[in-house]
Amino acid sequence: GGTVVSATGRGDADVLIDGETIAAVLAPGSQLLGTDIASSVDTVIDATGKYVIPGGIDAHTHMQLPFGGTEASDTFETGTRAAAWGGTTSIIDFAVQRYGERVQDGLAAWHEKAAGNCAIDYGFHQIIGGVDEDSLAAMRGLVDEGITSFKLFMAYPGVFYSDDAQVLKAMQVSNETGLLTMMHAENGPAIDVLAQQLADAGKKAPYYHGIARAWQMEEEATHRAIMLANLTGAPLYVVHVSAKQAVDQLAWARDQGWNVFGETCPQYLYLSLEEQLGGFSEEWGQFEGAKWVCSTPLRSRQEGHQHHMWQALRTNDIQMVSTDHCPFCMKGQKDLGLDDFRAIPNGIGSVEHRMDLMYQGVVTGKITLERWVELTSTTPARMFGLYGRKGVIQPGADGDVVVYDPNGHTSIGIGEGRTHHMNMDHSAWEGYEIDGHVDTVISRGKVVVDGGTYLGSKGDGRFLKRGLSQYLV
Ligand code: URP
Ligand code: ZN
Ligand code: ZN
Repeated sequence: GGTVVSATGRGDADVLIDGETIAAVLAPGSQLLGTDIASSVDTVIDATGKYVIPGGIDAHTHMQLPFGGTEASDTFETGTRAAAWGGTTSIIDFAVQRYGERVQDGLAAWHEKAAGNCAIDYGFHQIIGGVDEDSLAAMRGLVDEGITSFKLFMAYPGVFYSDDAQVLKAMQVSNETGLLTMMHAENGPAIDVLAQQLADAGKKAPYYHGIARAWQMEEEATHRAIMLANLTGAPLYVVHVSAKQAVDQLAWARDQGWNVFGETCPQYLYLSLEEQLGGFSEEWGQFEGAKWVCSTPLRSRQEGHQHHMWQALRTNDIQMVSTDHCPFCMKGQKDLGLDDFRAIPNGIGSVEHRMDLMYQGVVTGKITLERWVELTSTTPARMFGLYGRKGVIQPGADGDVVVYDPNGHTSIGIGEGRTHHMNMDHSAWEGYEIDGHVDTVISRGKVVVDGGTYLGSKGDGRFLKRGLSQYLV
């Protein structure tokens, strides 16, 4: 009895789920085996006055990521449970090959971390932390493993970094295999010089993280990635885009008809460098700003990046929204950088809030209801080879369905009456109010969230072997 919303339209319908899959989408009042539907099924969920949407797909998460001498605070268990609470029924996490490690070993370790621990279905991208002959050979085997995308870093020298020669070689394999190249596009070596100079001048507060990682560093790297991709024929997907100038690079490349795509995250739509600068608390003083240290960094509101980003979501210069969920606690993790922003582990936790935060864009008239579904579920499914099974409510698809109440309300943050199930001691979204609410979450036919009750369990989630991106012609 709800309004079923897809990327292309909406209409009142009844959704019939049989076991783990969607069996039918029926006109209101349809009969089943000669009787009304409600009396011929085991369970009825009344969605009258609510939206019925395909479960969210968060294609960029970092559960248990080793970073900056510590590890992201959500495990696959806590992180996928929080995701489910927020209406996300699939994640794609990044398996990590570290320097000196073989790709196969990094991937096996990631399977071990996730297997039997996830509340919802999960897939992997592969981070290539060291492009050499061995890892290039291993990349050629990834498609058979159901891993059809890999991430390179033009940032973070000494940690995950690839230089242009390595990027070029990996992109040649991308062209050859159909693997989608995902790029962290920031000029790491130049950023490190700027950061060193700021630190030498005594500018060590969290805010200077954003000053060192200037938008020029993102625009330049985005352009370089685009040209290397074009030269090699690799399809390119730029992750966590935050600078309006980087968006313009993507828009230009897309206007050439090139296979270039971009993702942004809720933090780049809502939060700003100015707010980070103003961050202050009794407990942390100016270090409060560490809650919003992530890369790419929050951008200046005065310069209009947030506004430009919302616009890019409408014009399709940016195609989808993921969280880049990478949570660290203030105590014992972020505070490693108490004396120097360079030691603050980078990342914000939002896996629980993406569907709500993006729905608020519908409420405020920035995107349509259909675009909300497209940005958070349908395009991620198509981009990463899951569509048909995920990202759509149609017969044969997995029974991943969210009932969303446009008349409900959500207070984001930690503490009483707030939504927060992520393993963090703070929220980057404290005080955000959403004019809507995730009511019911169904994951492969099982109700995992029913109002305020969590019914999922660890181990429900299965590994998703993905196909090639469905965006490539
Ligand atoms: O700050 C961030 N984004 N941390 C996670 C690692 C990455 O670059 O995506
Ligand atoms: Zn990144
Ligand atoms: Zn990331």
